[in-house]
Amino acid sequence: MSESIASLSKLAIIEISDESDKTNLASARNVHHTNLAAATYATLKIEKKGEKSNVGLITLNRPKALNALNAELMTELAECLSIFDNDKSIAAIVLTGSQKAFAAGADIKEMIPQQFANVWGGGFLENWTQVSKVRKPVIAAVNGHALGGGCELAMMCDIIYAGENASFGQPEIKIGTIPGAGGSQRTARVVGKSLAMEMCLTGDPITAQDALKSGLVSKIFPPETVVDEAVKLGERIGKNSPLIVLMAKEAVNRSYELSLQEGLNFERRLFHTSFATNDRREGMTAFSEKRKPNWTSS
Ligand code: CAA
Repeated sequence: MSESIASLSKLAIIEISDESDKTNLASARNVHHTNLAAATYATLKIEKKGEKSNVGLITLNRPKALNALNAELMTELAECLSIFDNDKSIAAIVLTGSQKAFAAGADIKEMIPQQFANVWGGGFLENWTQVSKVRKPVIAAVNGHALGGGCELAMMCDIIYAGENASFGQPEIKIGTIPGAGGSQRTARVVGKSLAMEMCLTGDPITAQDALKSGLVSKIFPPETVVDEAVKLGERIGKNSPLIVLMAKEAVNRSYELSLQEGLNFERRLFHTSFATNDRREGMTAFSEKRKPNWTSS
């Protein structure tokens, strides 16, 4: 166990509501906790939100550095996402920052002394992709700056809700480098080549309104309501079968990887697969009987 993970184990403690949660948490992938009684991560706050406490809320918490994404934060985030992903009581996860900054990018001060051999040899940023590997829906609730790695982190999420004060940018060019966690790739796929080029070549951010127009975010709200709206969205998703939600997320994500024909085939296969589940039969039966479905994720 590395030193940072070892020290994390002492710090990383989250609230557990019942015995089944304990089992879920203990069996979570990559979990290094030894004490799951009650406390916090060094760089994150964790809560369970919503009427049924079925939305996991992760708040980035390095206020003095505008939530700059250092190694410790990204390690904690990967671990925390894994815990929620494996917790059966959680339907969706919301990731947020502060009113001033979702995240101002990778930690520049941590990067200054790094050299090619370290970053290439050590696979710098490779573990960031964990965020996009979470199987449950992850919603970014963005206020303030979402810059560089912060914008990339938001784009790794499935849905972005933004406050009217949010700004999104890839300013790496201004500090002599380029995006390293998807800023040139995901941005181009989402907002198109012209705006992606403008963002990556000037480093200038776009407003929440422009992000909405370009399809980078799906809705904007007054800043103080963004997190609540994201939690409500998580609750709405949570009304559906957890098993089928995983399928729907996988299908949409494949649209970014496959040609249209391959994607349509993949979607149809997954649609056929849903007929192997009890939840598909239950959903259609409940509709015809004019009652709410009773999902079993089977
Ligand atoms: N890394 C480390 N520290 C950062 C930081 C970052 N990315 N962004 C802000 N901070 C720190 C500042 O150094 C400052 O700390 P001190 O008080 O100790 O000096 C504190 O946060 C507050 O920042 P400012 O005083 O600059 O606040 P501001 O309101 O005047 O400006 C800002 C806000 C426009 C976001 C400005 O801080 C800024 O431009 N930050 C850098 C943004 C950036 O370049 N991000 C890309 C990083 S590279 C990257 O992300 C690569 C990748 O693809 C993964």
